[in-house]
Amino acid sequence: MAAAEHPAPPQRKLTPHEQKLAELAARHAIAEEGGGPERRAREHEIGKLSARERIDLLLDEGTFEETDKFVTHRASDFGMDQQRVPGDGFITGHGRIDGRVVFVFAQDFTVFGGSLSEANAAKIVKIMDMAIKVGAPVIGLNDSGGARIQEGVVSLAGYTDIFLRNTLSSGVVPQISAIMGPCAGGAVYSPAITDFTLMTEKTSYMFVTGPDVIKTVLHEDVTKDALGGATTHNEISGVAHFMAHDDRECLAMIRELVSFIPSNNLDDPPRRATSDSPDRADAALDTIIPDESNQPYDMVDVITRIVDDGYLFQVHEHYARNLVVGFARMNGRPVGIVGNQPAALAGVLDIDASVKGARFVRFCDAFNIPLITFEDVPGFMPGTRQEHGGIIRHGAKLLYAFAEATVPKLTVITRKAYGGAYCVMSSKHLRTDVNLAWPTAEIAVMGPEGAVNIVYKRELDQVLRRAQAVMPQGVSLSEEQKLEVLAEARSEKVEEFRERFANPYVAAERGYIDAVIRPSETRRRLNTALDMLATKREKNPPRKHGNIPL
Ligand code: HXC
Repeated sequence: MAAAEHPAPPQRKLTPHEQKLAELAARHAIAEEGGGPERRAREHEIGKLSARERIDLLLDEGTFEETDKFVTHRASDFGMDQQRVPGDGFITGHGRIDGRVVFVFAQDFTVFGGSLSEANAAKIVKIMDMAIKVGAPVIGLNDSGGARIQEGVVSLAGYTDIFLRNTLSSGVVPQISAIMGPCAGGAVYSPAITDFTLMTEKTSYMFVTGPDVIKTVLHEDVTKDALGGATTHNEISGVAHFMAHDDRECLAMIRELVSFIPSNNLDDPPRRATSDSPDRADAALDTIIPDESNQPYDMVDVITRIVDDGYLFQVHEHYARNLVVGFARMNGRPVGIVGNQPAALAGVLDIDASVKGARFVRFCDAFNIPLITFEDVPGFMPGTRQEHGGIIRHGAKLLYAFAEATVPKLTVITRKAYGGAYCVMSSKHLRTDVNLAWPTAEIAVMGPEGAVNIVYKRELDQVLRRAQAVMPQGVSLSEEQKLEVLAEARSEKVEEFRERFANPYVAAERGYIDAVIRPSETRRRLNTALDMLATKREKNPPRKHGNIPL
């Protein structure tokens, strides 16, 4: 039948109520358009999701409540009055992760490069203030060129309002920053104040100033990736704590991170049911330490044999690999794990490892997460590079962090606990609640080799003189003979030293170690200790704040 025979019914005039609802729907649609389909398509092409897609994936389905969707900027210079997008390129609001409230903001790069205006700074400030009032984490999905250039000092003021809240929220509610695009200026300084920074591979960058400025000022050629890509900040600078292949993995990692941490500093971390028996023994642990003291092994292997379901969620996994830090669960309770890693640089403590450890310990302490330290450390890294870099100051950070921590603290010495590193790694003297050692522990001021060279220096010289004395007159010991004589004398002394000091029993006799245990029963011992410590209350003296060596 021809269409002309059936003309479309005349459009009914909308009632006043319907008109208002239609206007609301139209306004929503415009706000959700952001910078338009073309710009959004460009983002998709390079593998990025849109800001709204990111929020949907981050939160439990259907829980997002948006705030300030119709806020617009108030600038008029540079023709800005002709370019107003409702929401102004920032999406803010709250929702839930695993049923728990979180606040979130996401920058939409399609609107003025996700840059921060006075108006959208106020949107972020609003949710940050609310997060403090209700005690819930703030998650920022950053994708921004920083302060909006067209707004000048007004946008700088906006960023500073955010920095202030980042600082005042620190240690009160967890703050998590994902870097999901090219981020510069304030869009990197605000994340730097937050607790954790995640970056996406190939699509995210962080720098104070980009390659063009560097070329002009320093005549240096550097790519965006080499300057501030995910690998650079995860492996070299340590600015980022996590690296994700893409947006989806990044958002899943945030959800997982949130599952380990409480909503605020007054809550306990969320406990989860587990089918892994708290008493489970692992016989392999009894033989996991190599016979030779200088042979490496993987501390992650030790840790995963002890924690629930063999699962460790590493933080800063790619940075300072000589120290392992991360979250795990023990009988369903989230715990913070710190472990020296003999498989990397023999587990020595250097500047990067100290800073990595200190930051993690302080996070756990701020948010009521018990700490378990697995120790096998030959000491602090010697050498001019470390000394000139300030190992004294940076190593002191780790010492300070363990000392001030009042959460339940447990330590297991698996092998070496030498010198200053013994003191630092959550020793009994730093108010650690339960200190355990395996029979393979070697607790001493330094390793037998180094100790013998110093303590028996005179005796070794004498041995050499005696050997020279029995030589025919006029004949000197050859260099080879000297080495042979010394090696024999040294090995006797090394053995003597090892037997006397390189064991856990001298410390156990003093009560610095609460128990020397079979490695296979470590999980049971730690779980019993955590049960006992569940009601631990310890306070530091009242003060404005300490002065950690920065
Ligand atoms: C306004 C901006 C902007 C900004 C980007 N855009 N940054 N608009 N203010 N800060 C706009 C661009 O004009 C462009 O608009 C769109 O966003 C995409 O930008 P491109 O340059 O085309 O993208 P890309 O090549 O991917 O480069 C991204 C970038 C670069 C690396 C972020 O745009 C850049 O370097 N921006 C400036 C960074 C910066 O110096 N910010 C100020 C920092 S000061 P169209 O219309 O073409 O789509 C600061 C103070 C804080 O933040 C204080 C810290 C202590």
